[in-house]
Amino acid sequence: MSTSYKDLGLVNTKEMFAKAIAGGYAIPAYNFNNLEQLQAIIQACVETKSPVILQVSSGARKYANSNLLRNMAKGAVEYAKELGYEIPIALHLDHGDTFELCKDCIDNGFSSVMIDGSHHSFEENIALTKKVVEYAHAHGVTVEGELGVLAGVEDDVVAEKSHYTKPEEVIEFVSRTGVDSLAISIGTSHGANKFTPEQCTRNENGILVPPPLRFDILEEIEKKLPGFPIVLHGSSSVPQEHVATINQYGGALKDAVGIPEEQLRKAAKSAVCKINIDSDGRLAMTAAIRKVFAEKPGEFDPRKYLGPARDALKELYKHKNENVLGSAGKA
Ligand code: G3H
Ligand code: 13P
Ligand code: ZN
Repeated sequence: MSTSYKDLGLVNTKEMFAKAIAGGYAIPAYNFNNLEQLQAIIQACVETKSPVILQVSSGARKYANSNLLRNMAKGAVEYAKELGYEIPIALHLDHGDTFELCKDCIDNGFSSVMIDGSHHSFEENIALTKKVVEYAHAHGVTVEGELGVLAGVEDDVVAEKSHYTKPEEVIEFVSRTGVDSLAISIGTSHGANKFTPEQCTRNENGILVPPPLRFDILEEIEKKLPGFPIVLHGSSSVPQEHVATINQYGGALKDAVGIPEEQLRKAAKSAVCKINIDSDGRLAMTAAIRKVFAEKPGEFDPRKYLGPARDALKELYKHKNENVLGSAGKA
């Protein structure tokens, strides 16, 4: 028997995105794999009165079990109400790679799915995405597609222009697939090491400064698809204070660098209406946990280190909603 997201109190992304584009802000898309991450997301979004997209990756499904995560999202709707403010909550499959995976999520209470066909040829990407859209729309579920490949640190994102989304392809992709939103590649990438030191310059304090996002490509895409929801993956900023705390307490993160927050703020004011952030949360949690372990070596109650990690995560997300995405006060 299948479960509709509507029965779980969740919403799809249609109205969220329409409001975000009209209002010049972006909806936060935060990944979760466990209770503390979910608590932090909901607490932060309720306190800042922000809509939110809860993201579940294939890795999260394997780690925590998809149905358990789905039921946690259902619980999150009730938890938000209990905290005193009702916010729109979508449950989204992050980086779905097959029709079967997307179908399974749609049949089991997800309100939104991403089909990431960006590693296929243009025609194969269209065929796969269209198939997912047809099934999803029949169930009221919204679909995110992707055009262009996000570079990894092994790739030269500055020189390798073929990784960026080609503006001349977006109209055909969107019209032939029927997707509700489009993830694009304009220089962001996943993880905490988004650029090699060689791709960066250094400021007067020796801090790595990454190459700027390709706003020219974003503008071209906006011109071709006026008012269409655009998504940015790989949008962690890699806060240097968390990197420093991790390294101070025994970690070994070298040359970690992210996307400057002011560039994401600028993007959020444009057609970018969903911004994906996962790595920053991992850094905030790890910094808090390492600090407890270093300062209180006798501590072995998980609540005593996961609690501070949850608090640090909540503060990070409140900051993102208020100062980066602009979603605070929009729920
Ligand atoms: O885009 C990837 C997300 O950060 C999820 O990462 O696949 O390790 O869960 P994961
Ligand atoms: P970050 O690794 O920059 O947080 O990106 C997360 C993401 O894009 C999830 O889909
Ligand atoms: Zn991503």
